[in-house]
Amino acid sequence: MTDPLNWGDGDYARTAETLMPAAEVLVEAAGVGEGDDVLDVACGTGNVSLAASQRGARVTGVDGADVLVDAARERVPGGEFHVGEAEALPVDYGAFDIALSAFGVIFSPDPDRAAAELVRATRAGGRIAITTWDPAGAIHTAGTMLAAEVFPPRSDPPRWGDAAWVTALLERNGADDVVVGEEQLTFAAKSPAHWFAEQEEHHPVWRWGRRQLDDTGWERLRARSVAVLADGNEDPAAFRTTSRYLVITARRPEA
Ligand SMILES: C[S@@+](CC[C@H](N)C(=O)[O-])C[C@H]1O[C@@H](n2cnc3c(N)ncnc32)[C@H](O)[C@@H]1O
Repeated sequence: MTDPLNWGDGDYARTAETLMPAAEVLVEAAGVGEGDDVLDVACGTGNVSLAASQRGARVTGVDGADVLVDAARERVPGGEFHVGEAEALPVDYGAFDIALSAFGVIFSPDPDRAAAELVRATRAGGRIAITTWDPAGAIHTAGTMLAAEVFPPRSDPPRWGDAAWVTALLERNGADDVVVGEEQLTFAAKSPAHWFAEQEEHHPVWRWGRRQLDDTGWERLRARSVAVLADGNEDPAAFRTTSRYLVITARRPEA
């Protein structure tokens, strides 16, 4: 592909800021504490790493985008960060007390390998926790509409928002004690159209999507997306919408 998706394009840090509350929820759900060795998979600009280090953990982050790894290094000076793929983590077997991924492994092209890597990186008896989007909600629907236009169709697409599917994924890759909780995040902008324009200008996936479509296709997507966002708008004077997400915790069994 001449124009692969590059998460370092645009300004992902703007989105990361809106996702920070979920990073706090994730480290709380995983029980991160003083002295824990914590792995942050698909760390982006380091939201989870930052939240974990603020609790006294030693953090290691891995992400496929070198620009974001650099940003995470700057943001979490005590952390260790590597460019690497979720399907082949550049870390030792059983090296971590806790392996986490906030809206990260959900982008893996190979969910089984990514799940197996989370388990491999965790010590026996250690914990694993991830966040995934619930498919209901205007923001997720807008993302799905973009994905349907620009990503190749899959015969058996991953169902990260389906608690039973994620539980089975983790269990067949060696985890047990899977618990699924539900949380929510609020997104806001001046209007549904402003929210779309923000993604179009700054979000790496929307910027990449824009380059895959011609003008007509893009304007059609904009109109459909803004309509869905308007439908889910909870603030008639501007734009505010609630997105549910799953917080899934699991354990690597004792040896
Ligand atoms: C929505 S962002 C989440 C980033 C961060 N965890 C956060 O909460 O802000 C998704 C991240 O996954 C990374 N990513 C996507 N696919 C990946 C893969 N296969 N291996 C490693 N990183 C990946 C992207 O570079 C991006 O930083």
